[in-house]
Amino acid sequence: MKSIVCHESYLFKMINGEKPKCHPGEALVQIKRIGICGTDLHAYRGNQPYFSYPRILGHELSGIVEKVNGDNSEIKVGDHVSVLPYLECGECPACRSGKTNCCSTLSVLGVHQDGGMREYISVPADHLIETNKLTLDDAAMIEPLSIGAHAVRRAHLRKGEKVLVIGAGPIGLAVMSFAKLEGATVIAMDVNKERLTFCKENIGIDDVIVANEESITTLRKMFNGELPETVFDATGNVHSMNSAFQYPEQGGKLVFVGLVNDQITFSDPEFHRKELTLLSSRNATKEDFYFVKQSLENGYINISKFITHRCKFENMPSTFNDWLNPDSNVIKALVEI
Ligand SMILES: NC(=O)c1ccc[n+]([C@@H]2O[C@H](COP(=O)([O-])OP(=O)(O)OC[C@H]3O[C@@H](n4cnc5c(N)ncnc54)[C@H](O)[C@@H]3O)[C@@H](O)[C@H]2O)c1
Ligand SMILES: [Zn+2]
Ligand SMILES: [Zn+2]
Repeated sequence: MKSIVCHESYLFKMINGEKPKCHPGEALVQIKRIGICGTDLHAYRGNQPYFSYPRILGHELSGIVEKVNGDNSEIKVGDHVSVLPYLECGECPACRSGKTNCCSTLSVLGVHQDGGMREYISVPADHLIETNKLTLDDAAMIEPLSIGAHAVRRAHLRKGEKVLVIGAGPIGLAVMSFAKLEGATVIAMDVNKERLTFCKENIGIDDVIVANEESITTLRKMFNGELPETVFDATGNVHSMNSAFQYPEQGGKLVFVGLVNDQITFSDPEFHRKELTLLSSRNATKEDFYFVKQSLENGYINISKFITHRCKFENMPSTFNDWLNPDSNVIKALVEI
């Protein structure tokens, strides 16, 4: 079995080894698609916090079940599946309250333990979601889409609510897609005009704003003098996150989906004057995965243009560098096995 190991920063190695053992309660999956995301880029560049090498990357996965060890009513051999890559303890306070996405000892495939950049992986069978009605491409997109779906679920949007999404990368696009599905009026903000054009053409959002000093004035004009009730920041940029507190309306909400290895600071008088609600959003749950799967099956969201780049597994080590180049205009890159 072949695996691509991130041996150290800026170095991938293709290695040959045994197929993983399929322990009781696990299922062996033949990996077919691996989505690449910012986490993988940071790990490759050596600036992903709490990351150790060597590591097999890959947490946006779809494949075909080859073996199931034990009883599992949800999946069977031959099923196409999406992998829920967050392995929770099941016992800590967060897990007991159903918030497995923020388990205190969470281990994420491809981050804290080896992921799916390989021909086979064995995972707990209850971390597989059957996706027979979807393409393998779409099944691999369930993970990043679920991040957006989870953030939108946390925000409890109302129909017709005014929403601003800052950051039009894959995560922001997912947030916009699910906010539109909830019936919100959605405006996207980014510093990158190409990305704004992309989300206007492909997600049917209501308008776009280039992020600059005038943004708040432009935003008010778009909303008849008012500000959005809910603001999502999906930039991972500390300056954007610090200034995002100015955008929600009185009594509004700010949701940090993007994350940053830094301190966030804000003016307490502004925060209190508005009685803002500040939320973070981390990963997703199985419930979010099912919701995204159903939304894709029913054609409620359109992600047909999200995958802009792809390559074969064998060519991944030589192609990855190209995807780091901002001029490549990658939205989502996919590796095929
Ligand atoms: N909540 C979670 O569990 C979770 C999961 C995966 C990724 N993330 C985080 O989500 C964030 C976004 O991920 P992505 O893959 O979409 O990243 P990305 O880099 O592709 O997209 C970020 C976008 O933000 C824009 N941006 C940067 N600075 C800006 C600014 N000052 N004002 C306006 N726009 C700005 C960029 O132009 C870009 O289009 C990252 O921080 C990532 O780590 C969170
Ligand atoms: Zn990811
Ligand atoms: Zn736990």
